[in-house]
Amino acid sequence: MYQTIIGGRELIKNAGELIRKGEIVAFPTETVYGLGGNALDESAINKIYEAKNRPKDNPFIVHVTDAEAADKVAVVTQEAEKLFKIFSPGPITVVLRKRDCIPYAATAGLGTVGVRIPSHPMCREFLKECKVPVAAPSANLSKRVSPTSASHVYEDMNGRIPLILDGGDSEVGIESTVISLAAEVPTVLRPGIITIEKLVEVFPEVRNHKGEIKVAPSPGMKYTHYAPLVPCVMFDSILAAAKAYDNFVAENLKPVILIKGSWEGLGEREVINMGADGKEIAKNIFGLLRYCEKNYDRIIVEKLSDCGEEGSVMNRLVKSCGGKILP
Ligand code: TXA
Ligand code: MG
Repeated sequence: MYQTIIGGRELIKNAGELIRKGEIVAFPTETVYGLGGNALDESAINKIYEAKNRPKDNPFIVHVTDAEAADKVAVVTQEAEKLFKIFSPGPITVVLRKRDCIPYAATAGLGTVGVRIPSHPMCREFLKECKVPVAAPSANLSKRVSPTSASHVYEDMNGRIPLILDGGDSEVGIESTVISLAAEVPTVLRPGIITIEKLVEVFPEVRNHKGEIKVAPSPGMKYTHYAPLVPCVMFDSILAAAKAYDNFVAENLKPVILIKGSWEGLGEREVINMGADGKEIAKNIFGLLRYCEKNYDRIIVEKLSDCGEEGSVMNRLVKSCGGKILP
């Protein structure tokens, strides 16, 4: 059991020392908060699995400061270099052949490793201070909604880790796009704010494993993810939302409707606007889900488009709702 400390810039040096000593530390990134440990140290990696209750067959992303550092942990191909040049530092993870220094514990036994160069200024300072590559999943308990603020991390990790670096609210709000360049054609494994539409502009051949312009399953995708602590259902007509809301009220439950942009026709029912477009909704969604699970018994959320940034948020929401859409 740790006494978990939350702090800002003044603790970056301490955070680096802790990482070099084999400890684990939560830190901000532009996407979501990460829970990091020395990527070269198997025992630090095991501490992360333990703190998160994460199944051991779900690999971690390794965070580095630049493409040169990336090449020390993975074989950075020309294509990878091109991707890093265009999109990094930023919210993209590139899966490449791993180098021997990365233990199989970090990659769940795979010969590949996901490498990311984050853009968040405090994250970059932290990585410099660590002087080692940092393996980090999102800093939530396994299955829970990813954290986009230090207080979200505290909710899940209090007592489980020594330190949370507070870098404010995450700007992007959903996890990085994961693209594999270790497959035959560049393959998107997890959509993000760098959308598949943007990646097709760089690699016209970008595909999923079936050869479609869709997303292929990554090892983490078989798990229940993003599950709020209260049931969550999805609607695609106001009528269905109103009906579900009224049924929940009749059962003495306290529901809330999450909707995109403005709304009409819901009368006095409790409604929260998730944001005006995909980018805004991405930034708000995980915080909103955490807010709703504390203040309501049921969440009724609007179905979003399957494309672009909205499509990347939908990828998470479908999981929050267990794939169910209201009739
Ligand atoms: O934005 C992010 O990516 C955040 C921040 C902290 O950087 N991290 C994050 O990590 O979301 P995590 O562990 O929650 O998600 C990593 C995803 C998982 O779905 C995992 O299966 C996939 O990336 N992944 C990691 N390494 C992989 C590999 N070698 N091959 C295929 N998929 C991989
Ligand atoms: Mg995660």
